[in-house]
Amino acid sequence: MPKKNQSKATETLKGHQAKDKDVRLPYFDYLLAALKDGNESVEKSFGRHVHWGYWEHPQQAALTTEGFAQASEDLSRQVCLAGRIENNQSVLDVGCGFGGTIAHIDENYQGMNLVGVNLDERQLARARDIVKPATNNSIEFKQGNACALPLPDQSFDVVLAVECIFHFPDREQFFKEAFRVLKPGGYLALSDFVSHPLLHPFAKAKLPNRISVGFYGKCNLQYGVAEYRNLAKKTNFTIQTERDITVNTLPTYSYLRRLSQQHRVNSVFALVETATAEVLSRFRLLNYYVYGFQKSA
Ligand SMILES: C[S@@+](CC[C@H](N)C(=O)[O-])C[C@H]1O[C@@H](n2cnc3c(N)ncnc32)[C@H](O)[C@@H]1O
Repeated sequence: MPKKNQSKATETLKGHQAKDKDVRLPYFDYLLAALKDGNESVEKSFGRHVHWGYWEHPQQAALTTEGFAQASEDLSRQVCLAGRIENNQSVLDVGCGFGGTIAHIDENYQGMNLVGVNLDERQLARARDIVKPATNNSIEFKQGNACALPLPDQSFDVVLAVECIFHFPDREQFFKEAFRVLKPGGYLALSDFVSHPLLHPFAKAKLPNRISVGFYGKCNLQYGVAEYRNLAKKTNFTIQTERDITVNTLPTYSYLRRLSQQHRVNSVFALVETATAEVLSRFRLLNYYVYGFQKSA
C-alpha cells in the first residue's frame, strides 16, 4: 500500500478501534453459546450463515431447518450474482460471520482468492475451523473493521457485505474503503434492510444504550432507496443492481417463530425486535434489498 494511504488508513483504524469495544451483538453471544452446547437446530439454521435468507418460492416455503438452510444458501447466491462473481477472482467478504458466503463461493467457483473480514475473533475462529478451501482456491480470515479495512489498495475484483452494513459505524466510510480496495471496474455487492422515509424519524430516535443494543445490537435503519442512490453517486459507484427481495424474506419470520417456540428463547428483546421487524416488513416500511455497485473502470 502506498505510504500516504497507509498512514491515512492507520489513523482511521485507530479511530475505529476505539469504537470496536462498543460493538455488542447479543445475538452472536446467544448463537455461540447454543453452538457450543451442540444445539442441533441452531447449528443447522445458523451454524454457517447468519442472515435472513432468500426463499425462492415464498408462497410454498417449507418451514423446516432444511428449507431455511437452503434459503440461507440462496441469499448468499443472490449477493454473489449482484457482485458478478466469476472464476479466478479475488473476493473480499466483509462482516463474514461464520464464513458461510466464503464457503458458498469456494464450493461453486474455481481459482478463487477469498478473504473474510470480521470484527469478532470468536466468529473468525469458527470460520477457520469449518471452512476449508477446495483445491485451486485459497481462503484467509482476518480480524478487522469494515470502516478501516486492513487490506491494500486495488486488490479485489469483488467486495461483499451480506446483511451487516447496518451494524457498521458509518456506511459512507465503508463505501470509501470498498472503493479503495477494489480494482477498477470491480463490484461491491450487499444485502441490507432498506427503510421507507416514514420510518426515518423513529430510526433516528436516541434510545438508552441497553434498549438500542437489545438482542440484534445497534442497527442503523436510516437508509432508504434515495440515501443509497446518493451514497453511490458521492462515492463514485454506479448502481448496477437494485432489487427489492422483501417478499422472498418474509417466510423467515414464521420460521423464527417456530424455532423460538421449540427453544424457549427467553430474551424479551429477541421476541419484540423480531416481531417489530416482521410488522414493518409486512407493511413495507422496512424492505430488504440486494445491491450491486460498480467502480468505474
Ligand atoms: C447478520 S451478521 C452477517 C454475517 C454474514 N455476513 C452472514 O451473512 O452470515 C453481521 C456480521 O457483521 C459483523 N460486523 C458488525 N460490525 C462490523 C464491523 N464494523 N466490521 C466488520 N464486521 C462487522 C458481525 O460481527 C457479524 O458477523
